Amino acid sequence: MRVTMIGSGYVGLVSGACFADFGHDVTCVDKDQTKIDALKQGKIPIYEPGLEALVENNVRAGRLTFTTDLKAGVVGADAVFIAVGTPSRRGDGHADLTYVHAAAEEIAQSLEGFTVIVNKSTVPVGTGDEVARIVKEANPQADFAVVSNPEFLREGAAIDDFKRPDRIVIGGDDARGLEVMREIYRPLYLNKSPIVEMSRRSAELTKYAGNAFLATKISFINEIADLCEKVGGDVQDVARGIGLDNRIGPKFLHAGPGYGGSCFPKDTLALLKTSQDYDAPQRIVEAVVSVNDNRKRAMGRKIINALDGDVRGKTVALLGLTFKPNTDDMRDSPSIAIVQTLQDAGAKVKVYDPQGEEQARLVLQDVEYCSSPYEAVEGADALSIVTEWDEFRALDLRRVLTMLKQPVLVDLRNIYDRDQAESLGYKYVGIGR
Ligand code: UDX
Repeated sequence: MRVTMIGSGYVGLVSGACFADFGHDVTCVDKDQTKIDALKQGKIPIYEPGLEALVENNVRAGRLTFTTDLKAGVVGADAVFIAVGTPSRRGDGHADLTYVHAAAEEIAQSLEGFTVIVNKSTVPVGTGDEVARIVKEANPQADFAVVSNPEFLREGAAIDDFKRPDRIVIGGDDARGLEVMREIYRPLYLNKSPIVEMSRRSAELTKYAGNAFLATKISFINEIADLCEKVGGDVQDVARGIGLDNRIGPKFLHAGPGYGGSCFPKDTLALLKTSQDYDAPQRIVEAVVSVNDNRKRAMGRKIINALDGDVRGKTVALLGLTFKPNTDDMRDSPSIAIVQTLQDAGAKVKVYDPQGEEQARLVLQDVEYCSSPYEAVEGADALSIVTEWDEFRALDLRRVLTMLKQPVLVDLRNIYDRDQAESLGYKYVGIGR
């Protein structure tokens, strides 16, 4: 199959490289000449484990190419995937569909022979209809089908998620379109990955409903954690206790500083906008969003309280800035609100993140960037673990203790054992325990 990706960002690049690895002939298109030049030289613009090698192998095998020439990519393709960004629109939180619509218009001009246009970008219900309308209007002769195929890739585990998915969702009712999709995903059909075919609108909604449900699990367990702290329970035990019920499931029940990243905050907001437009309120999701928004600053206050409610003139060391480990992504990371809360209260903040410093510098001002956890801790009044990178799981806590001015450890990801920390002499503050 000849497959073209419009947009070589996170989703387009991972999907393009994986499709090439399935043996398809893939062209990744992007308007950004610098990005395409870099990709041609094997330089990957994002941090994603395994991606560089995957791209390199498939480029070498001649199955993966990069171009800024959309027309060249689209002419003769069996499927053209739209994998452009759909950021929150400034002001109202609706998904901004400018790039999707522009891509549809451009694709339309270059279609030749039957082509499936596949929406991989996260788009509100009804966008597939709009894409079909745009293409038809721009090129009334075009022979095409529009299919929705949302992505469910986690950053840091995207390649594995792509190749061993929990499920693949394909939405559309055009028989030829579905045939092409089945061919493209053939390796996954063969290894018995569940593939769910449904209407285009159902597929579009599935993406939002899935992310909103996962966000709900997180906000739910985070509130249970708050209750645990008040009544003297341990949220990790509670999470395990409920998670072993198959109907609930053990995943996404880690209490922490709140969810961030490129998907949950944006998609929950966009779902709320759609629900308003269609007059079908999503009150649960409303609560989930508000619980999460409030939680981030509350985590800053938690650190302040651990330092007896006053951080003026004190220094706090934060380990981990990205919204989760194994990524350099700072989008909507809880660390941003935590740093602000600490600074508003007069604290000095030292930080260390294994991959996120470059992105962090764009959003976090007036903090001291350090090149190791120990450099961050040196002379600080408290240490707080904000993101659970593996390298923070085995810190030399004895050494850290000698470097801190006060023995305060605020573990926002519950990666340390309270008893062990306390036996070393720490004042240990975790989440929900
Ligand atoms: C998510 C979805 O998992 C993925 O299917 C979708 O396509 C894109 O959004 P991602 O944003 O990469 O992926 O990260 P994920 O691993 O899902 O974590 C999201 C956030 O939730 C992180 O901030 C993480 O720290 C937080 N989280 C996750 C918790 O606080 N507790 C949990 O139990 C799980």
